Amino acid sequence: MQQLLNEILDEIRPLIGQGKVADYIPALSHVAPNQLGIAVYSNEGELYSAGDGLTPFSIQSISKVFSLVQAIQHSGEDIWQRLGHEPSGQPFNSLVQLEFERGVPRNPFINAGALVICDINQSRFAAPTLSMRDFVRRLSGNQLVASDDVVARSEYQHRARNAAMAYLMQAFGNFHNDVEAVLHSYFHHCAIRMSCADLALAFSFLANQGVSPHSGERVLTPRQTKQVNAIMATSGLYDEAGNFAYRVGLPGKSGVGGGIVAVVPERFTVCVWSPELNPAGNSLAGMAALELLSERIGWSIF
Ligand code: DON
Repeated sequence: MQQLLNEILDEIRPLIGQGKVADYIPALSHVAPNQLGIAVYSNEGELYSAGDGLTPFSIQSISKVFSLVQAIQHSGEDIWQRLGHEPSGQPFNSLVQLEFERGVPRNPFINAGALVICDINQSRFAAPTLSMRDFVRRLSGNQLVASDDVVARSEYQHRARNAAMAYLMQAFGNFHNDVEAVLHSYFHHCAIRMSCADLALAFSFLANQGVSPHSGERVLTPRQTKQVNAIMATSGLYDEAGNFAYRVGLPGKSGVGGGIVAVVPERFTVCVWSPELNPAGNSLAGMAALELLSERIGWSIF
């Protein structure tokens, strides 16, 4: 596996320079674009990493999976009264569908859906950012994982689109807490910094029927695990979910920080990171690396 990861990075490296680092969040635009990392964590507890696989980066929308899992843990199926689990076919920050569909977001991974999930968690936790931090530290086994206040503040200053979505949902009666407080939690979740290795460990329960292989903690039931993987497979890469299924064929979740996590059920979890994005907002080299990996191991869910 170690040799395979090294080979994949060597083959992918020439793609650096063809994408664009996210700059709509000013604090993210300063990230050095030529970084490239990968890590794999197997259900047997073996960790492999290559390139910048141990360097922390802004996880951004990858945090939406952690928020969803927290909400499922405390509210189960009830959450689906507030949002759907259908692909949106729209960019992650699109507003158009939200008015047509009366303030009910299509799924938990577009921004509108993630905001509803944060609203659900805000009703449950006294300190949502601390609950999230502790949850992610436990899942990754890394007690140093933390949110970057500079990035969170930068996102808050440029919150117009996300605020518009949240207030529109409030107007439809689908938002229960103070919008600004929920935005604060949401941006702090997005601004969490983790490495590929941290993320591979943190997502490993999704490859192992809901039990974290490194801690033995049952995070979700096998049925809930299947459901989260299904939503990742159909909506984890927004309007590029179809292309990701076509090229990679695994449940995955991306973030505008350039990370993509993918799950190989019953086998391992992989995370790639390269900050330059394609036009859909997904890591350009990361997509190519995961495509190569699924080809070389000869395995996908399809
Ligand atoms: O709300 C936002 O726009 C960002 N904090 C997260 C967006 C993101 O990562 C979408 N992913 N590809």
